[in-house]
Order: sequence, then structure tokens, then C-alpha cells
Amino acid sequence: MDIKKKKRFSVLVTAGPTREKIDPVRFISNYSTGTFGYEIAREALRRGCDVTLISGPTCLKAPRGARLVEIESALEMRDEVRKRAGRCDCVIMAAAVSDWRARSPEKGKIKRPGGRITLELEANPDILLEIGKKKKGVLIGFALETENLEKNALAKLKSKNLDLIVANKLTKGKGLFGAGVTDVTVIDSFGRKDIYRRRTKRELAEIILDKALNFKI
Ligand code: CTP
Repeated sequence: MDIKKKKRFSVLVTAGPTREKIDPVRFISNYSTGTFGYEIAREALRRGCDVTLISGPTCLKAPRGARLVEIESALEMRDEVRKRAGRCDCVIMAAAVSDWRARSPEKGKIKRPGGRITLELEANPDILLEIGKKKKGVLIGFALETENLEKNALAKLKSKNLDLIVANKLTKGKGLFGAGVTDVTVIDSFGRKDIYRRRTKRELAEIILDKALNFKI
């Protein structure tokens, strides 16, 4: 598809982890480096798309030309995605959103206690599920699984009303976060399944963009 001849195809990409405050100096997060999402944003720019990148904290440099929106928590990411998703032709939710946040983050630094402390967690909203309910353009999600990769990915594809899901399996002893090469299974809403082995994130970004741009909207 030669997008330059048409209106610029707009892509919203989320990337990186979220951080959920416990107190002013501590947080809950995950090992996401943001590499995959940033590669997708970069590839979309190479193809002439209008790119918005909503990113949690990472050590990466934002691709030149992307509209960078920096957020910290899942709730902040949700606000930004909600504001912008309806105006985009495609949303690619590559962020590793924390599923929980502290129920009542402390205003002051929690002092080291003598013994055990209990942290009460509250569920964060599922951002992808929410935007899937009023989907306008192409919607792409990710699935990180430790078992039953295809079954779980397919369930997420359906329940979140996605066009495409990119599923990774986290295998014992083999890092995924920040890894050079990755195996992924990509499943679309027509039931087509493709398995890609030992691909770099850049190669996978090209594959994902090829598929995204081929969807009719
Ligand atoms: N996601 C989201 N909001 C959340 C959690 C996840 O939008 N609170 C999105 C992720 O960005 C990803 C997809 O949902 O595109 C799947 O995320 P994943 O962590 O694999 O699965 P969950 O839906 O959180 O389910 P579970 O943790 O039970 O596997």
C-alpha cells in the first residue's frame, strides 16, 4: 500500500513498562525495555505514517518524527490512549501495562519496619479491552504467556476484539525482555496463524506493519 499518495495513515503505539507508585521513592513495575514498541514506531515512520508513541519510562531515544507522550502509570497511559485512540487508523498496544497498582500509595517515604509489611494491590483497567469495545481502526495487541501460548493468545484476540495478536512465550532460562532475537506467533481475526522464529524486533516490526497496513478500515 502506497500510503504517501493517500492521507497519512495514523498509528498509535504504546511501549515500555508502567510504574505504579508505592511511596515517593518506590514503585512496582516489570522488565519491559520498550524496544519492541519503539521499533514498531520507527518502522511506521519509515513507511510515512503519522506516529504517536505513548511510552512508559525507558532508556531509549524516541524515534525522530514521532509524537512522544511520556507517562508513568497505567492510569496515565489509559488517559492518553483514550484521548487519542479514536482519531487513529491503527492502535498497537505493545506496552507492558502493570496489572496492579498500590491501593493507597503513601505520601511520605515508608520507613523500614522491623518485620513484614503488607502491600494491598488493586487491579488496573485493561486498556486494550476498553478500546476494543469502541474500536474504529485496526487494533493490535500483544500476549505474553508462560504456557498454552496459542490458546491464551486466541482468547485475548477474541475477548479484546483485536484484529491481530502478537504472542510471545516466556521460556525458563531464555530472556525475552530486551532480547536480541525472539520467536513469535501472530494470529489474526480470520484465524490465520504465522510463526516466526529467531527474528529481531526490527524484522518483527516490519512484519507487524505489513499486516497492519493490509487490514481494511
Ligand atoms: N494490556 C492492557 N492493559 C492492561 C494489561 C494489558 O492494555 N492492564 C494489554 C497489553 O498491552 C497487551 C495485551 O493487553 O497488548 C495483553 O497483555 P498481557 O499482559 O499478555 O495479558 P493480560 O491481558 O494482562 O492477561 P494475563 O496477565 O492474565 O495473561
